[in-house]
Amino acid sequence: MVSWAVTGATRGIGFGYIDNLSADPNNQVFALIRSLSTAGPLQELAGKRKNVHIVVTDLYDIKKLGEAAAKVSKATGGSLDVLILNAGSAGPHTNVLPPTAFIGKEEALEKEINENMKNNILSPMFVINSFLELVRKGQEKKIIFISSPSGDLEFTRITGIPSVVGYSAGKAGMNIIMTKFGAELAPEGIKTLSMSPGWVATDAAEQVTGEPEVRKYMLNAFHKIDPTVTGPTPVAEAVASQLKTIRGLTAENSGKSVGRFGNNDWF
Ligand SMILES: NC(=O)c1ccc[n+]([C@@H]2O[C@H](COP(=O)([O-])OP(=O)(O)OC[C@H]3O[C@@H](n4cnc5c(N)ncnc54)[C@H](OP(=O)(O)O)[C@@H]3O)[C@@H](O)[C@H]2O)c1
Repeated sequence: MVSWAVTGATRGIGFGYIDNLSADPNNQVFALIRSLSTAGPLQELAGKRKNVHIVVTDLYDIKKLGEAAAKVSKATGGSLDVLILNAGSAGPHTNVLPPTAFIGKEEALEKEINENMKNNILSPMFVINSFLELVRKGQEKKIIFISSPSGDLEFTRITGIPSVVGYSAGKAGMNIIMTKFGAELAPEGIKTLSMSPGWVATDAAEQVTGEPEVRKYMLNAFHKIDPTVTGPTPVAEAVASQLKTIRGLTAENSGKSVGRFGNNDWF
């Protein structure tokens, strides 16, 4: 049995992980979610597949995360093989603004930065530290952060996209912190990876790149990196490639920040 826990598993990529992994009865899959209100399809899946466990928690609340870890521990016998930090959103509506548009809007800038730091750095660090004892006792010993090309300096330099300031800073910040976790925990055999999922057809992608004018602009920018990209990848396809990369994670490539294929191919 391989045990997996995925945060933000009600929809999009997180749900794609649960769907893919639970199709194999040799996997034990934990969906860590904040609310059942958007979890209809997840609950339906859990009704059909006994290896799906839904755990409602609060990703910013250490006490609740401790309770969630205890529930997982009880079901697995005290261990967790793979922890996937997937929960996320593009942040406040100010995500459309480039840095200088915040001149005179300092309060909005503070919100743009703080909300994204909370979502992309503090929360994943709380989750990792809450589940660390279980990962230590797991066989796989893997911790994966679902990042974004927005957090990659070279991607941003080449595409020239100036918006999603706080989100990009949050993802970039957590990328380096994942490398720090990897450095600290390597002697225990724990491996970390920051992985961008690609451009994936989810609610979040629709929110950020769905509007026709924005989509045209983004496609033009993305073509500077990859002239073949035509649009978002279906969730199942994106998740299958991500899982291949997670399964290929070793001590040698631990701590890296990569795309879904395990290299710098971002789409
Ligand atoms: N889709 C893309 O093209 C793309 C590209 C780059 C990176 N990503 C990253 O991939 C990850 C998943 O994105 P997605 O596209 O699948 O998004 P999505 O379809 O909007 O799903 C987001 C998931 O995260 C949960 N979530 C969001 N904010 C949360 C919070 N503050 N606390 C707890 N749960 C929270 C949502 O729960 P609720 O249902 O309760 O809202 C939902 O389950 C994110 O980290 C995102 O930054 C996506």
